[in-house]
Order: sequence, then C-alpha cells, then structure tokens
Amino acid sequence: MLVLLVSFASIYCAGLALYRLLFHPLREYPGPALAALTEGYEAYYNIIKGGNLVAQYEKLHKQYGPVVRVGPNTLHFNYAQAYHDIYTHGSTLVKEPAFYKNINPHSDLSSFALRDPQEAKIRRGLVGPAFSRRAVTSHEDMIQQKVHKFIQMLEEHHNSSESSVDTSDAYFSLTTDIITSYCFDNCFDTLDTPGFSHYMPKGFQEAVALFWVMRHLPFLGVLLLIYTPPNLLMRYFTPLRGFVELKSSLESQIDRWIRDPQSLSETTTNETIYHYLFKTKDQKHPSRMSLIHEAFILFSAGSDTTSNALNIGTIHASKDTSISRRLFEELCEAFPDEDRPMSHAVLENLPFLTAFIRETLRFAIGAVHPLPRVVGPTTPAIGGLKIPAGTIVEMSTAFMHMNPEVFPDPNTFNPDRWLVEDTTEMMQYFCPFSKGPRICLGLNLAWCELYLTFGNLFRKVDLKLVSEEGHFDQAPIQQIDYFVLHWRERCKVYVEKSKK
Ligand code: HEM
Repeated sequence: MLVLLVSFASIYCAGLALYRLLFHPLREYPGPALAALTEGYEAYYNIIKGGNLVAQYEKLHKQYGPVVRVGPNTLHFNYAQAYHDIYTHGSTLVKEPAFYKNINPHSDLSSFALRDPQEAKIRRGLVGPAFSRRAVTSHEDMIQQKVHKFIQMLEEHHNSSESSVDTSDAYFSLTTDIITSYCFDNCFDTLDTPGFSHYMPKGFQEAVALFWVMRHLPFLGVLLLIYTPPNLLMRYFTPLRGFVELKSSLESQIDRWIRDPQSLSETTTNETIYHYLFKTKDQKHPSRMSLIHEAFILFSAGSDTTSNALNIGTIHASKDTSISRRLFEELCEAFPDEDRPMSHAVLENLPFLTAFIRETLRFAIGAVHPLPRVVGPTTPAIGGLKIPAGTIVEMSTAFMHMNPEVFPDPNTFNPDRWLVEDTTEMMQYFCPFSKGPRICLGLNLAWCELYLTFGNLFRKVDLKLVSEEGHFDQAPIQQIDYFVLHWRERCKVYVEKSKK
C-alpha cells in the first residue's frame, strides 16, 4: 500500500513539475527553474535566509530582466508603469488570499485582508473616517502628551552611554501607546516601563519572524495562535504574552460594546474606532470576529510601520549631525519657546523637516515585501503586457524608492534631494503608503506622529548614536524583510544634551 502511495505521489509531482515548466501559461517568462517549480523558493528566502527575499529579487532582475517568474504562478516586476498598473490603477486586481490570510491568523476579516473590492470599499468607508485629517487633529493633544512623556523618559533615564537605549524598543513603546489610545481609548502605558522594556512591544518584535513561518506553514500559526490555550502560550512561548493579552483585552472591550452599544459614549472619553464601526446605516455592525480582526490589524499596522520609520529617521539624523543641526535650527526659528506645544499644522510647513520625513519614508520603504495581487478577467495590460487572469503579480516598493534614475545615489540618506522646485517625478515614485484603492488607511495619523515626534525630539534633545556598525551604510534593500524592514543588528542612542 505504501509503495503504491509513494508511486502515485511521485507520478503526481513529476507531472506537476512538467506542467509548470513546459505547459504553464507563464512558461515563457524568465526566472530560476526552482521558482517556477515550487513556492518553496519564496519560503526559502523568507524563512531559511531570514527575510532576504527582496535582496534576492534584486539579483534576479539583474540576471533575467524587468519581469521575472518568481513562483509557479507569480510574476515580479521592477518598473514604474507596472507598479502603477498593479497598485495605483489596480481596481480589477484583488489582494492574494493566501498571503493576507496567513501572515496573521487574526486579519482575515479586517480592512487589510478583505479581498472582495466591494466589501473592502464598504469597510474602508466605515473605518476610513476614523483616520481622517479631522479625526487625527482631534487626537493631537493625546499624541503630544505621549511624545512629551517619551522624551522625558529619554532625558531622565537614558542620558549617558552606559544607559543608552535600543531605538526599536523605544519607538515601538511610543507607537503602541499612541495606537492603543487612538483606536481603543485604552492606553497600554508601555512607556511607563523602565528601559522601554514592556513585554508587549518587546514580544511583538521577537515574534516577528513568526510572520514568515505562518505565511508558509499556516496550520502552525492557526494551531499556535487560535487553538493553543492562552495559559500554555504564556508559559512556553513568552514572546507571545503580549499577543495573548492584547487579544483578551480587545475581546472583552468588543463584547462589552456588542452587548451594550450605548455604553460606548458613556465609558470612553475619546472617539475610538468602534464609534465608527458601530455607526452603520442599518445599525448592523460587522461580526464579532470581524471586529476583533479589525482591531488586531489596526494595532499591528499602526505600531510596527510607524515605529520603524521613526527608528530609521533617528538613526540617520544621529549619524549625520549636520542633519540634526539643521533640523534644530529650523525648529528653533519656528518655535523659539521650546515649552510651547509644536502644532502639527505649523510643523508640516517646515521645508527641511518635511524633506527629512520624506527621505525617512523613502528609506523605510513602507511594506518592503512585495504585496501580491491576483489578475482578474478584465484587468488591462500590466506594464505593457497582457497577463493571464489568475496570475499573481507584485512589485516591492523598494524598486520604486531605490531607483537610481529618479533618486540619484539612492543609498545615501539625503533630505536635500527633496528641496528642489519640481518634485513631481520623485513623488510618482514615492509610495511608502502604497497607492490606489488599497492605499494605507492610517496615513494621516502616521504623518502626524512623524511630525510631532521628530519636531519635538530634534528641538529638545541632542541624541548620540552608540553602535555605528557598518550595516547602516548598506542599502535598505539589503536589510531584513519581515513585511516592513527590520535591522539585523540593533542600534542604541542616549541623550547627550537637553536643549533648554
Ligand atoms: C509610517 C507608517 C505607515 C506606513 C509606512 C504604512 C504603510 C502601509 C502600506 C504600504 C499599506 C498597503 C498594504 C497592502 O497593500 O497590503 C498599508 C495599508 C494599511 N495601513 Fe498603513 N502604514 C503606516 C501606518 C499606518 C497606521 C498608523 C495605520 C492605522 C492604524 C495604518 C493602517 C493601515 C490599514 C488598515 C491598511 C489596509 C488598507 C487596505 O488594504 O485597504 N497604517 N499601510
């Protein structure tokens, strides 16, 4: 019996391999034979090579040209017209289900992972206003307070090389407190933990490699995060303690409001995402599971991405002190009295600060991992090519942000490149928040956090970078891809001087 089974399996695999190489609709596209044969090619670079996929794709494009077959049914592009056809005008393409479902078992029913364009549009219509410019402005005082507390912690506890602090931990704590206050009116107060070492942001960073394991072995993610009893998870997978507590806190809040929607306005002092999610025309809110997924995704999308950008900007401004000095001079002129709150509206009119944030976002990339979309039956040509329906198409934003023809010397952090009269072409290539119908829902909040944090930080303190290993000189494309960029080595700073 076993022999029979093995024989059938071998015949099936051999037949599949022949089909993929010789008869598949993508057979004419160049690329490594291994990638054409198996999805394991991507898994190898994501897991075994620890987040090295985009660096590998860069090599493949050099070898095979602008369109490469990177999976049995997947094409990766590296030119702007293709990017815009897939993302900016891509209303007939849908998010690839397996990718979006698997990278987080609690995202499937959220605005981030909904596939059906109509469903996604309705959900975006519901959640989007929670992140409108008006809504963000109404939370500005809260964000100012968190930033103020963050800088105070740095000044009081991290003011010598011996007490230097990991910038990723520090910023993850800041963005965690902002996003939990903003979305749930339930701040996790991680900034209160000395050394920015609260288990929640720490655990999320430690668990990030799990992303790729769940992407390629989804049953493990489901087993671990859905079916494993919380007490076992807390005991044997300590980095997941933050995940367990986040889940239970979100669930109890959601259950309370499903039971008694009136209590929403009675028990919260600020607007939350639930004020929007419960405000449907027919008074029917999304299902309980969908609310949990939405809350989860807003927490993750709103913490990791923004803290990563803050981290990258801080490292570059601390490395090149001419940048931090110019930021200080501009900020001093706009805010001679450093105790006066720096408003977002004034900060966003400062040219050098704005150029610095754009360059930060160019380097941070946004989502460095290619965001896969499935071609529909009515999808027009992509990058000038008619692609068969059902094909997965993608292009990492790294190829837009690091294009040397648009951003000369792309691996040099140079805010001045943005201080030219005409930035039209650069702006066409600048897409940290993606573009088109699935553009980031939280971008107004992200910009506000970046302005308020950098504005206050560079006006008020001088930071000293402690670890300056060569890795920061490498192109971001060569850093680790865990959906957003992560660094192989950590970087520490301390406050050298308070500018009072
Ligand atoms: C610097 C900070 C941020 C960056 C670089 C960023 C980047 C991105 C990118 C590239 C996407 C597209 C993902 C895809 O197509 O699969 C996205 C989507 C999304 N982002 Fe952000 N994001 C940031 C901050 C935030 C914040 C603060 C929130 C709010 C909580 C947020 C919520 C979302 C949501 C809900 C989506 C899914 C939208 C959809 O698919 O329709 N993001 N973001």
